Amino acid sequence: MKRRVEEVDYDALDDTRLESILQITNATSREANPRFNDFGLDEFRLISSSPGRVRHRFLAQGPEGEVVGVAEGSFADDGSNPDRLRIQISVEAASRRAGVGTALLARVVELAERLGRSTLQSWHYDTIPAGRAFARAMGAREGLQFHDNVLRIAELDLHLLQRWNDQGPTRATGYRVEVIEGPWPDHLLGDIAQLYFVLERDMPLSEGVEPREWSAELVASMQAHYRKLTSSISALAFEESTGGVIGLTQLLKRDSDPTTWIVTTTMVDPTHRGKGIGKWIKAAATLEALSRWPGAVYQETGNAFTNEPMLAINREMGFEHELTTTDVEIEVDLARDFIESRGVQMGGATGT
Ligand SMILES: CC(C)(COP(=O)(O)OP(=O)(O)OC[C@H]1O[C@@H](n2cnc3c(N)ncnc32)[C@H](O)[C@@H]1OP(=O)(O)O)[C@@H](O)C(=O)NCCC(=O)NCCS
Repeated sequence: MKRRVEEVDYDALDDTRLESILQITNATSREANPRFNDFGLDEFRLISSSPGRVRHRFLAQGPEGEVVGVAEGSFADDGSNPDRLRIQISVEAASRRAGVGTALLARVVELAERLGRSTLQSWHYDTIPAGRAFARAMGAREGLQFHDNVLRIAELDLHLLQRWNDQGPTRATGYRVEVIEGPWPDHLLGDIAQLYFVLERDMPLSEGVEPREWSAELVASMQAHYRKLTSSISALAFEESTGGVIGLTQLLKRDSDPTTWIVTTTMVDPTHRGKGIGKWIKAAATLEALSRWPGAVYQETGNAFTNEPMLAINREMGFEHELTTTDVEIEVDLARDFIESRGVQMGGATGT
């Protein structure tokens, strides 16, 4: 089978070409989680260009020029993890086990070498055995595992939520919680960026992975971006004496998918933990969403396996494990050895 792999800029692609990439992306997401609701084209354009990362994309084409696989190599734009390239490879189901994934990997390896990055970082899902098999075949190391958890909104224990909400002010004296629908006001963005900064340094990350820098400008550009495709409800915890934001949880709802609330981040600054603030903000946001966003079926969230405090709150709320994502990484030299051992030429068009 003749095949070509080319580097492409999604912004320069017309809708028809992007649609064929979107089909592979949606199919992979559904394979990982059958509950996934497909992205639309405009949504995909926006998600593909979310701020904070520099991205390179590759397409594998079949004999008629049809897209059969896609790959992305990306890195954070703040200089963190200068030795790493994060990669993602997807091949349409009908074209697997024919070397397409390896051909895409070859281009990503060349990119890493061009950028002077020595480690490739990726992940696989337990629901897609092919992804794990591919990673193992090339000799990638497995790192941290993450739970994707889900609860059915109809099964939420309203008494429990009400209790967490009502007990908040007595368990955590000197704090208050505000619920905000829509964007966070500008004057809070510095505090929120600081919260992300501290929390990323506190939460479990795979060995060797550095947290990124956070600034009010980055938070502003991220929220401006996501506002184009989602609605949000947040609960923010303030320390009364300083007026600072010390805790946050956010629920997002994709405009294209009213069935699901996505918990993006829940965090309480380490010096303010142990007072029930995590439960208070979770309850406040969830109760607000119940009244503002009727009709949804699922609430979903992701947590590291080792993040016991967050998992404990989520289990009590009724979240149940849905799938497992495992971080993997491999040195670029070893990935190159794997590619060469399979007779794939490095350097542009490939044919077998
Ligand atoms: C992972 C994926 C990209 C592999 O693409 P592919 O084109 O099938 O890969 P290749 O044909 O180049 O496979 C190379 C080798 O990997 C191993 N491999 C790949 N899929 C496998 C499977 N289902 N079972 C066992 N081994 C497998 C084999 O050693 C294979 O060589 P072989 O076919 O000669 O035995 C593809 O299965 C996919 O798109 N999966 C969904 C997305 C995903 O999980 N991506 C990883 C997360 S970023």
